[in-house]
Amino acid sequence: MSIHVKNNIHWVGQRDWEVRDFHGTEYKTLKGTSYNSYLIREGKNVLIDTVDHKFSYDFVLQLEQEINLNDIDLIVINHAEEDHAGALSLLMSKIPNTPIYCTENAIDSITGHHHHPEWNFNVVKTGDSIDIGNGKSLVFIETPMLHWPDSMMTYMTEDAVLFSNDAFGQHYCDERLFNDEVEYTELMEQCLRYYANILTPFSPLVTAKIHEVLGFNLPVDMVATSHGVIWRDNPTQIIEKYLEWADEYKEDKITIFYDSMSNNTRMMADGIAQGITEVDPNVAVKIFNVSRHDKNEILTNVFGSKGILVGSSTMNNVMMPKIAGMLEEITGLRFKGKKAGAFGSYGWNGGAVDRIHARLTDAGFFTTIGMKTKWRPDGKALEECREHGRQIAREWALQPITETPESVSHVKASAAPEVSLAQPMAQSMAQSTAQPATPSSHSPASTTQDRASAGNKQKQLCTVCQWVYDPEQGEPNQDVAPGTAWADVPDYFLCPDCGIGKEVFEPIA
Ligand code: FEO
Repeated sequence: MSIHVKNNIHWVGQRDWEVRDFHGTEYKTLKGTSYNSYLIREGKNVLIDTVDHKFSYDFVLQLEQEINLNDIDLIVINHAEEDHAGALSLLMSKIPNTPIYCTENAIDSITGHHHHPEWNFNVVKTGDSIDIGNGKSLVFIETPMLHWPDSMMTYMTEDAVLFSNDAFGQHYCDERLFNDEVEYTELMEQCLRYYANILTPFSPLVTAKIHEVLGFNLPVDMVATSHGVIWRDNPTQIIEKYLEWADEYKEDKITIFYDSMSNNTRMMADGIAQGITEVDPNVAVKIFNVSRHDKNEILTNVFGSKGILVGSSTMNNVMMPKIAGMLEEITGLRFKGKKAGAFGSYGWNGGAVDRIHARLTDAGFFTTIGMKTKWRPDGKALEECREHGRQIAREWALQPITETPESVSHVKASAAPEVSLAQPMAQSMAQSTAQPATPSSHSPASTTQDRASAGNKQKQLCTVCQWVYDPEQGEPNQDVAPGTAWADVPDYFLCPDCGIGKEVFEPIA
Protein backbone atom coordinates (compact mmCIF):
# COMPACT_ATOMS: atom_id res chain seq x y z
CA MET A 1 0.00 0.00 0.00
CA SER A 2 1.38 3.40 -0.92
CA ILE A 3 1.16 6.50 1.26
CA HIS A 4 0.83 9.98 -0.13
CA VAL A 5 3.81 12.13 0.84
CA LYS A 6 3.40 15.37 -1.10
CA ASN A 7 1.99 16.35 -4.50
CA ASN A 8 3.12 13.57 -6.84
CA ILE A 9 5.36 11.76 -4.36
CA HIS A 10 4.24 8.50 -2.73
CA TRP A 11 5.92 6.22 -0.21
CA VAL A 12 6.17 2.69 -1.59
CA GLY A 13 8.41 1.19 1.07
CA GLN A 14 8.19 -1.71 3.45
CA ARG A 15 7.69 -1.89 7.21
CA ASP A 16 9.62 -4.43 9.21
CA TRP A 17 8.08 -4.87 12.64
CA GLU A 18 9.96 -8.06 13.37
CA VAL A 19 13.58 -7.20 12.72
CA ARG A 20 15.67 -7.21 15.89
CA ASP A 21 19.21 -7.27 14.49
CA PHE A 22 21.02 -5.00 12.07
CA HIS A 23 24.60 -5.09 10.80
CA GLY A 24 24.81 -8.75 11.78
CA THR A 25 23.81 -8.73 15.43
CA GLU A 26 25.67 -5.54 16.33
CA TYR A 27 22.66 -3.20 16.37
CA LYS A 28 19.50 -4.25 18.18
CA THR A 29 16.47 -2.77 16.45
CA LEU A 30 14.16 -2.89 19.44
CA LYS A 31 11.47 -0.90 17.63
CA GLY A 32 11.79 -2.62 14.25
CA THR A 33 12.50 -0.44 11.23
CA SER A 34 11.20 0.54 7.82
CA TYR A 35 12.80 0.67 4.39
CA ASN A 36 11.50 3.80 2.71
CA SER A 37 11.22 3.88 -1.06
CA TYR A 38 9.58 6.72 -2.94
CA LEU A 39 7.77 6.89 -6.27
CA ILE A 40 7.68 10.29 -7.98
CA ARG A 41 5.27 10.75 -10.89
CA GLU A 42 6.03 13.94 -12.73
CA GLY A 43 6.91 14.33 -16.41
CA LYS A 44 9.20 11.41 -15.64
CA ASN A 45 8.46 8.59 -13.24
CA VAL A 46 11.25 8.14 -10.73
CA LEU A 47 11.82 5.49 -8.09
CA ILE A 48 14.07 6.55 -5.20
CA ASP A 49 15.73 3.58 -3.50
CA THR A 50 14.18 0.15 -3.02
CA VAL A 51 13.88 -1.97 0.14
CA ASP A 52 15.73 -4.73 1.97
CA HIS A 53 16.43 -7.76 -0.21
CA LYS A 54 14.30 -10.03 2.01
CA PHE A 55 11.23 -8.00 0.97
CA SER A 56 12.02 -8.01 -2.76
CA TYR A 57 8.92 -9.99 -3.73
CA ASP A 58 6.53 -7.94 -1.56
CA PHE A 59 8.05 -4.70 -2.82
CA VAL A 60 7.83 -5.47 -6.53
CA LEU A 61 4.35 -6.93 -6.13
CA GLN A 62 3.06 -3.75 -4.51
CA LEU A 63 4.95 -1.49 -6.87
CA GLU A 64 3.27 -3.22 -9.81
CA GLN A 65 -0.07 -2.26 -8.29
CA GLU A 66 1.01 1.37 -8.24
CA ILE A 67 2.54 1.70 -11.68
CA ASN A 68 3.29 -0.30 -14.78
CA LEU A 69 6.96 -1.05 -14.13
CA ASN A 70 7.79 -0.27 -17.75
CA ASP A 71 6.64 3.29 -17.11
CA ILE A 72 9.45 3.87 -14.59
CA ASP A 73 11.87 6.19 -16.38
CA LEU A 74 14.73 6.03 -13.93
CA ILE A 75 15.83 4.69 -10.55
CA VAL A 76 17.89 6.68 -8.06
CA ILE A 77 19.93 4.65 -5.60
CA ASN A 78 21.12 6.94 -2.82
CA HIS A 79 22.97 4.14 -1.04
CA ALA A 80 23.90 0.65 -2.14
CA GLU A 81 23.64 -1.21 1.16
CA GLU A 82 21.31 -4.18 0.94
CA ASP A 83 18.54 -2.64 3.04
CA HIS A 84 18.01 -0.02 0.29
CA ALA A 85 19.26 -1.54 -2.95
CA GLY A 86 18.41 -5.12 -2.04
CA ALA A 87 15.33 -5.42 -4.24
CA LEU A 88 17.17 -4.29 -7.37
CA SER A 89 17.84 -7.80 -8.68
CA LEU A 90 14.18 -8.72 -8.85
CA LEU A 91 13.07 -5.30 -10.05
CA MET A 92 15.72 -5.10 -12.78
CA SER A 93 14.86 -8.59 -13.97
CA LYS A 94 11.54 -7.05 -15.04
CA ILE A 95 12.84 -3.72 -16.38
CA PRO A 96 16.48 -4.48 -17.23
CA ASN A 97 17.32 -1.37 -19.24
CA THR A 98 16.04 1.21 -16.79
CA PRO A 99 18.72 3.82 -16.00
CA ILE A 100 20.12 3.73 -12.47
CA TYR A 101 21.51 7.01 -11.10
CA CYS A 102 24.03 6.66 -8.28
CA THR A 103 27.56 7.59 -7.22
CA GLU A 104 30.60 5.91 -8.69
CA ASN A 105 31.27 4.10 -5.43
CA ALA A 106 27.73 2.73 -5.46
CA ILE A 107 28.32 0.97 -8.77
CA ASP A 108 31.11 -1.01 -7.15
CA SER A 109 28.88 -2.09 -4.30
CA ILE A 110 25.74 -2.75 -6.38
CA THR A 111 27.72 -4.82 -8.86
CA GLY A 112 29.44 -6.64 -6.03
CA HIS A 113 26.12 -7.60 -4.48
CA HIS A 114 23.98 -8.19 -7.57
CA HIS A 115 26.58 -9.20 -10.20
CA HIS A 116 25.05 -7.29 -13.11
CA PRO A 117 27.72 -4.96 -14.47
CA GLU A 118 25.64 -4.60 -17.64
CA TRP A 119 22.95 -2.56 -15.86
CA ASN A 120 22.49 0.95 -17.20
CA PHE A 121 24.44 2.88 -14.55
CA ASN A 122 24.70 6.67 -14.67
CA VAL A 123 27.24 8.27 -12.33
CA VAL A 124 26.24 11.50 -10.60
CA LYS A 125 28.24 13.94 -8.50
CA THR A 126 27.34 16.77 -6.16
CA GLY A 127 25.46 19.46 -8.04
CA ASP A 128 24.40 17.26 -10.95
CA SER A 129 20.68 17.40 -11.67
CA ILE A 130 18.01 15.75 -13.78
CA ASP A 131 14.96 17.50 -15.19
CA ILE A 132 11.93 15.37 -14.29
CA GLY A 133 9.36 17.61 -15.93
CA ASN A 134 6.68 19.95 -14.66
CA GLY A 135 9.40 22.47 -13.81
CA LYS A 136 11.00 20.16 -11.24
CA SER A 137 14.46 18.66 -10.98
CA LEU A 138 16.37 16.19 -8.86
CA VAL A 139 19.68 17.54 -7.54
CA PHE A 140 22.27 15.13 -6.17
CA ILE A 141 24.53 15.69 -3.16
CA GLU A 142 27.29 13.19 -2.43
CA THR A 143 27.57 12.36 1.27
CA PRO A 144 30.48 9.91 1.43
CA MET A 145 30.85 8.16 4.79
CA LEU A 146 27.37 9.16 5.92
CA HIS A 147 27.63 6.40 6.46
CA TRP A 148 29.20 4.51 3.53
CA PRO A 149 31.56 5.79 0.85
CA ASP A 150 28.78 5.52 -1.75
CA SER A 151 26.09 7.47 0.13
CA MET A 152 24.35 10.47 -1.38
CA MET A 153 21.17 12.51 -0.93
CA THR A 154 18.70 13.64 -3.58
CA TYR A 155 16.90 16.97 -3.39
CA MET A 156 13.69 17.60 -5.32
CA THR A 157 13.21 21.21 -6.33
CA GLU A 158 9.84 23.00 -6.11
CA ASP A 159 8.48 20.37 -3.69
CA ALA A 160 11.60 21.03 -1.56
CA VAL A 161 11.92 17.44 -0.38
CA LEU A 162 15.32 16.13 0.68
CA PHE A 163 15.62 12.35 0.25
CA SER A 164 18.37 11.89 2.81
CA ASN A 165 18.69 8.11 2.90
CA ASP A 166 20.25 6.85 6.19
CA ALA A 167 21.06 10.31 7.53
CA PHE A 168 18.35 11.72 9.84
CA GLY A 169 16.69 8.30 9.99
CA GLN A 170 15.85 5.95 12.83
CA HIS A 171 15.26 2.25 13.26
CA TYR A 172 11.65 2.81 14.20
CA CYS A 173 8.53 1.18 12.85
CA ASP A 174 5.08 2.73 12.99
CA GLU A 175 2.07 2.61 10.71
CA ARG A 176 2.15 6.38 10.76
CA LEU A 177 4.72 7.88 8.44
CA PHE A 178 5.24 11.47 9.58
CA ASN A 179 7.10 12.80 12.61
CA ASP A 180 4.15 14.84 13.83
CA GLU A 181 2.03 11.70 14.05
CA VAL A 182 4.20 9.60 16.37
CA GLU A 183 5.21 9.90 20.00
CA TYR A 184 8.02 12.48 20.17
CA THR A 185 10.07 11.07 23.05
CA GLU A 186 10.04 7.57 21.61
CA LEU A 187 11.04 8.92 18.21
CA MET A 188 13.93 11.01 19.52
CA GLU A 189 15.23 8.10 21.60
CA GLN A 190 15.57 6.09 18.41
CA CYS A 191 17.17 9.02 16.55
CA LEU A 192 19.78 9.38 19.27
CA ARG A 193 20.41 5.64 19.42
CA TYR A 194 20.88 5.59 15.63
CA TYR A 195 23.27 8.52 15.65
CA ALA A 196 25.28 7.32 18.65
CA ASN A 197 25.77 3.79 17.36
CA ILE A 198 26.19 4.43 13.64
CA LEU A 199 27.24 7.99 12.94
CA THR A 200 29.44 8.97 15.90
CA PRO A 201 32.74 8.15 14.14
CA PHE A 202 31.79 10.47 11.31
CA SER A 203 30.78 13.47 13.41
CA PRO A 204 33.41 15.80 11.89
CA LEU A 205 32.05 14.94 8.49
CA VAL A 206 28.43 15.35 9.61
CA THR A 207 29.15 18.93 10.57
CA ALA A 208 31.02 19.69 7.36
CA LYS A 209 28.42 18.08 5.11
CA ILE A 210 25.44 19.75 6.78
CA HIS A 211 27.09 23.14 6.42
CA GLU A 212 27.78 22.35 2.78
CA VAL A 213 24.12 21.49 2.19
CA LEU A 214 22.92 24.55 4.13
CA GLY A 215 25.27 26.61 1.99
CA PHE A 216 23.10 25.85 -1.04
CA ASN A 217 20.32 27.89 0.64
CA LEU A 218 17.68 25.45 -0.55
CA PRO A 219 14.30 25.47 1.16
CA VAL A 220 13.53 22.18 2.90
CA ASP A 221 9.87 21.34 3.33
CA MET A 222 10.38 17.67 4.14
CA VAL A 223 13.26 15.37 5.00
CA ALA A 224 12.34 11.97 3.59
CA THR A 225 14.67 9.45 5.21
CA SER A 226 15.15 5.84 4.27
CA HIS A 227 14.38 4.49 7.78
CA GLY A 228 11.54 5.53 10.07
CA VAL A 229 9.55 8.73 9.81
CA ILE A 230 9.48 11.52 7.27
CA TRP A 231 10.25 14.86 8.92
CA ARG A 232 7.30 17.03 7.90
CA ASP A 233 6.69 19.19 10.97
CA ASN A 234 9.65 21.52 11.52
CA PRO A 235 11.77 19.31 9.27
CA THR A 236 15.05 21.03 10.00
CA GLN A 237 14.83 20.13 13.70
CA ILE A 238 16.60 16.85 13.04
CA ILE A 239 19.32 18.65 11.07
CA GLU A 240 19.84 20.99 14.03
CA LYS A 241 19.97 17.98 16.34
CA TYR A 242 22.67 16.38 14.19
CA LEU A 243 24.75 19.55 14.41
CA GLU A 244 24.37 19.46 18.19
CA TRP A 245 25.21 15.75 18.45
CA ALA A 246 28.19 16.07 16.13
CA ASP A 247 29.78 18.75 18.32
CA GLU A 248 31.28 16.63 21.12
CA TYR A 249 27.82 16.20 22.61
CA LYS A 250 27.54 15.65 26.33
CA GLU A 251 24.93 15.96 29.04
CA ASP A 252 25.49 16.22 32.78
CA LYS A 253 25.62 12.46 32.95
CA ILE A 254 28.09 9.77 33.99
CA THR A 255 27.73 6.25 32.66
CA ILE A 256 29.17 3.37 34.65
CA PHE A 257 29.42 -0.04 33.05
CA TYR A 258 31.12 -3.14 34.35
CA ASP A 259 31.33 -6.91 34.37
CA SER A 260 31.69 -8.75 37.61
CA MET A 261 32.73 -12.33 38.44
CA SER A 262 31.61 -12.42 42.07
CA ASN A 263 29.54 -9.28 42.45
CA ASN A 264 32.45 -7.41 44.05
CA THR A 265 32.99 -5.02 41.14
CA ARG A 266 29.23 -4.44 41.09
CA MET A 267 29.43 -3.41 44.75
CA MET A 268 32.17 -0.95 43.84
CA ALA A 269 30.00 0.50 41.05
CA ASP A 270 27.19 1.08 43.54
CA GLY A 271 29.53 2.76 46.01
CA ILE A 272 31.08 5.05 43.41
CA ALA A 273 27.63 6.00 42.08
CA GLN A 274 26.45 6.84 45.60
CA GLY A 275 29.45 9.11 46.12
CA ILE A 276 28.84 10.96 42.86
CA THR A 277 25.18 11.55 43.65
CA GLU A 278 25.96 12.61 47.20
CA VAL A 279 28.19 15.45 46.02
CA ASP A 280 26.34 16.38 42.83
CA PRO A 281 22.69 15.24 42.79
CA ASN A 282 22.18 16.95 39.43
CA VAL A 283 24.35 14.40 37.65
CA ALA A 284 22.42 11.57 36.03
CA VAL A 285 24.31 8.37 36.89
CA LYS A 286 23.48 5.36 34.72
CA ILE A 287 24.79 1.92 35.67
CA PHE A 288 24.93 -1.12 33.39
CA ASN A 289 26.22 -4.66 33.63
CA VAL A 290 27.51 -5.38 30.13
CA SER A 291 26.51 -9.02 30.46
CA ARG A 292 22.88 -8.19 31.09
CA HIS A 293 22.12 -4.90 29.37
CA ASP A 294 21.55 -3.99 25.76
CA LYS A 295 24.91 -2.96 24.32
CA ASN A 296 23.47 -0.24 22.09
CA GLU A 297 21.69 1.36 25.05
CA ILE A 298 24.98 1.46 26.93
CA LEU A 299 26.74 3.05 23.96
CA THR A 300 23.94 5.57 23.57
CA ASN A 301 24.43 6.54 27.20
CA VAL A 302 28.19 6.77 26.72
CA PHE A 303 27.52 9.10 23.78
CA GLY A 304 25.44 11.39 26.00
CA SER A 305 27.82 11.38 28.99
CA LYS A 306 30.49 13.79 30.12
CA GLY A 307 32.43 10.85 31.47
CA ILE A 308 32.39 7.10 31.88
CA LEU A 309 33.63 4.69 34.51
CA VAL A 310 34.50 1.21 33.34
CA GLY A 311 34.79 -1.66 35.81
CA SER A 312 35.95 -5.23 35.59
CA SER A 313 37.05 -8.00 37.84
CA THR A 314 40.51 -9.24 37.05
CA MET A 315 40.38 -12.65 35.40
CA ASN A 316 43.61 -14.37 34.36
CA ASN A 317 45.23 -11.00 35.10
CA VAL A 318 43.26 -9.27 32.32
CA MET A 319 39.83 -7.67 32.07
CA MET A 320 36.71 -9.71 31.46
CA PRO A 321 36.07 -10.39 27.76
CA LYS A 322 32.80 -8.48 27.40
CA ILE A 323 34.47 -5.36 28.78
CA ALA A 324 37.29 -5.81 26.27
CA GLY A 325 34.69 -6.02 23.49
CA MET A 326 32.99 -2.85 24.68
CA LEU A 327 36.28 -0.98 24.78
CA GLU A 328 37.05 -2.10 21.24
CA GLU A 329 33.67 -0.80 20.10
CA ILE A 330 34.12 2.46 21.96
CA THR A 331 37.52 2.92 20.35
CA GLY A 332 35.95 2.50 16.91
CA LEU A 333 33.20 5.02 17.69
CA ARG A 334 35.87 7.67 18.36
CA PHE A 335 34.11 9.63 21.07
CA LYS A 336 35.57 13.05 21.70
CA GLY A 337 35.82 15.37 24.69
CA LYS A 338 34.89 12.82 27.36
CA LYS A 339 36.51 11.81 30.64
CA ALA A 340 36.96 8.26 31.85
CA GLY A 341 38.23 6.13 34.68
CA ALA A 342 38.69 2.44 35.48
CA PHE A 343 37.81 0.43 38.56
CA GLY A 344 37.56 -3.19 39.61
CA SER A 345 37.95 -5.86 42.23
CA TYR A 346 40.78 -8.36 42.14
CA GLY A 347 42.07 -11.30 44.13
CA TRP A 348 45.63 -12.32 43.37
CA ASN A 349 46.57 -9.74 40.75
CA GLY A 350 44.81 -6.55 39.65
CA GLY A 351 45.75 -6.25 36.00
CA ALA A 352 42.29 -5.48 34.66
CA VAL A 353 42.11 -1.91 35.93
CA ASP A 354 45.47 -0.93 34.47
CA ARG A 355 44.57 -2.46 31.11
CA ILE A 356 41.20 -0.69 31.02
CA HIS A 357 42.90 2.58 31.88
CA ALA A 358 45.37 2.14 29.02
CA ARG A 359 42.63 1.23 26.56
CA LEU A 360 40.53 4.24 27.54
CA THR A 361 43.52 6.53 27.12
CA ASP A 362 44.26 5.05 23.72
CA ALA A 363 40.63 5.58 22.75
CA GLY A 364 41.02 9.33 23.28
CA PHE A 365 39.36 9.74 26.67
CA PHE A 366 40.82 12.09 29.27
CA THR A 367 41.57 9.43 31.83
CA THR A 368 41.61 10.00 35.53
CA ILE A 369 43.00 7.85 38.29
CA GLY A 370 41.42 4.41 38.68
CA MET A 371 40.49 2.36 41.68
CA LYS A 372 41.15 -1.22 42.75
CA THR A 373 39.63 -3.19 45.60
CA LYS A 374 41.12 -6.46 46.81
CA TRP A 375 38.53 -9.21 47.24
CA ARG A 376 35.02 -8.25 48.37
CA PRO A 377 34.65 -4.67 49.56
CA ASP A 378 34.11 -4.38 53.30
CA GLY A 379 32.56 -1.35 54.95
CA LYS A 380 35.81 0.59 54.82
CA ALA A 381 36.42 -0.24 51.18
CA LEU A 382 32.89 0.73 50.24
CA GLU A 383 33.38 4.09 51.91
CA GLU A 384 36.55 4.50 49.87
CA CYS A 385 34.54 3.77 46.74
CA ARG A 386 32.02 6.43 47.75
CA GLU A 387 34.87 8.85 48.34
CA HIS A 388 36.23 8.00 44.91
CA GLY A 389 32.80 8.84 43.50
CA ARG A 390 32.75 12.14 45.39
CA GLN A 391 36.13 13.07 43.93
CA ILE A 392 34.94 12.15 40.44
CA ALA A 393 31.85 14.32 40.91
CA ARG A 394 34.00 17.31 41.87
CA GLU A 395 36.59 16.72 39.17
CA TRP A 396 34.06 16.25 36.37
CA ALA A 397 31.56 18.95 37.39
CA LEU A 398 30.35 20.97 34.41
CA GLN A 399 29.66 23.92 36.66
CA PRO A 400 30.62 24.78 40.24
CA ILE A 401 28.77 22.57 42.69
CA THR A 402 27.50 23.53 46.08
CA GLU A 403 28.05 20.61 48.39
CA THR A 404 25.49 19.88 51.04
CA PRO A 405 26.62 19.75 54.70
CA GLU A 406 25.70 16.07 54.58
CA SER A 407 28.15 15.20 51.78
CA VAL A 408 30.94 17.27 53.35
CA SER A 409 30.46 15.67 56.76
CA HIS A 410 30.68 12.26 55.11
CA VAL A 411 34.12 13.12 53.85
CA LYS A 412 35.30 14.35 57.24
CA ALA A 413 33.83 11.40 59.10
CA SER A 414 35.37 8.86 56.78
CA ALA A 415 38.13 6.77 58.25
CA ALA A 416 39.31 6.00 54.75
CA PRO A 417 42.37 7.69 53.25
CA GLU A 418 41.58 10.55 50.90
CA VAL A 419 41.62 9.45 47.31
CA SER A 420 43.03 12.27 45.28
CA LEU A 421 42.70 12.22 41.54
CA ALA A 422 46.06 13.87 41.30
CA GLN A 423 47.63 11.37 43.67
CA PRO A 424 50.15 8.98 42.16
CA MET A 425 49.96 5.22 42.42
CA ALA A 426 49.06 4.02 45.89
CA GLN A 427 52.01 3.23 48.05
CA SER A 428 51.24 -0.42 48.46
CA MET A 429 48.36 -2.64 47.49
CA ALA A 430 48.85 -4.56 50.69
CA GLN A 431 48.29 -1.51 52.87
CA SER A 432 44.71 -0.91 51.86
CA THR A 433 41.94 -2.97 50.40
CA ALA A 434 40.85 -0.08 48.17
CA GLN A 435 43.20 2.28 46.47
CA PRO A 436 43.81 4.51 43.51
CA ALA A 437 45.33 2.46 40.75
CA THR A 438 46.81 4.38 37.90
CA PRO A 439 48.24 7.85 37.63
CA SER A 440 46.29 10.39 35.68
CA SER A 441 47.34 10.71 32.09
CA HIS A 442 46.40 12.18 28.75
CA SER A 443 46.35 15.84 29.53
CA PRO A 444 44.68 17.79 26.72
CA ALA A 445 46.91 20.76 27.46
CA SER A 446 50.10 18.82 26.99
CA THR A 447 48.69 17.24 23.84
CA THR A 448 48.11 20.67 22.36
CA GLN A 449 51.66 21.71 23.20
CA ASP A 450 53.03 18.57 21.63
CA ARG A 451 51.09 19.24 18.47
CA ALA A 452 52.26 22.81 18.26
CA SER A 453 55.90 21.89 18.72
CA ALA A 454 55.75 19.25 16.01
CA GLY A 455 55.64 22.08 13.46
CA ASN A 456 55.89 21.33 9.81
CA LYS A 457 56.54 17.63 10.32
CA GLN A 458 53.17 17.08 11.99
CA LYS A 459 51.38 14.10 10.47
CA GLN A 460 47.61 14.22 9.96
CA LEU A 461 45.12 11.41 10.41
CA CYS A 462 41.97 11.06 8.34
CA THR A 463 39.42 10.46 11.09
CA VAL A 464 37.13 8.73 8.63
CA CYS A 465 39.37 6.02 7.15
CA GLN A 466 42.58 6.36 9.19
CA TRP A 467 44.80 7.26 6.20
CA VAL A 468 47.82 9.28 7.34
CA TYR A 469 49.23 12.35 5.64
CA ASP A 470 52.99 12.51 6.15
CA PRO A 471 54.50 15.88 5.18
CA GLU A 472 57.78 14.15 4.35
CA GLN A 473 55.98 12.09 1.69
CA GLY A 474 53.45 14.65 0.48
CA GLU A 475 50.79 13.28 -1.87
CA PRO A 476 52.28 13.27 -5.39
CA ASN A 477 49.03 12.09 -6.97
CA GLN A 478 47.50 15.44 -6.02
CA ASP A 479 50.60 17.48 -6.76
CA VAL A 480 51.45 17.90 -3.10
CA ALA A 481 55.23 17.78 -3.07
CA PRO A 482 57.26 15.98 -0.38
CA GLY A 483 58.05 18.37 2.43
CA THR A 484 54.68 20.17 2.26
CA ALA A 485 53.38 21.05 5.71
CA TRP A 486 49.69 20.40 6.31
CA ALA A 487 48.92 24.12 6.47
CA ASP A 488 50.22 24.46 2.93
CA VAL A 489 48.26 21.54 1.49
CA PRO A 490 45.59 23.06 -0.78
CA ASP A 491 41.97 23.16 0.36
CA TYR A 492 40.85 20.98 -2.54
CA PHE A 493 42.94 18.09 -1.20
CA LEU A 494 41.01 14.83 -0.77
CA CYS A 495 41.97 11.81 1.29
CA PRO A 496 43.30 9.29 -1.26
CA ASP A 497 41.52 6.40 0.47
CA CYS A 498 38.04 7.70 1.26
CA GLY A 499 37.80 10.86 -0.81
CA ILE A 500 36.92 13.23 2.05
CA GLY A 501 38.36 16.71 2.37
CA LYS A 502 40.81 18.32 4.79
CA GLU A 503 38.12 19.11 7.33
CA VAL A 504 38.09 15.56 8.71
CA PHE A 505 41.85 15.40 9.34
CA GLU A 506 43.34 15.76 12.77
CA PRO A 507 46.96 16.04 13.89
CA ILE A 508 48.52 12.89 15.23
CA ALA A 509 49.88 13.48 18.71
FE1 FEO B 1 20.20 1.76 5.98
FE2 FEO B 1 23.45 2.02 5.38
O1 FEO B 1 21.79 1.26 5.26
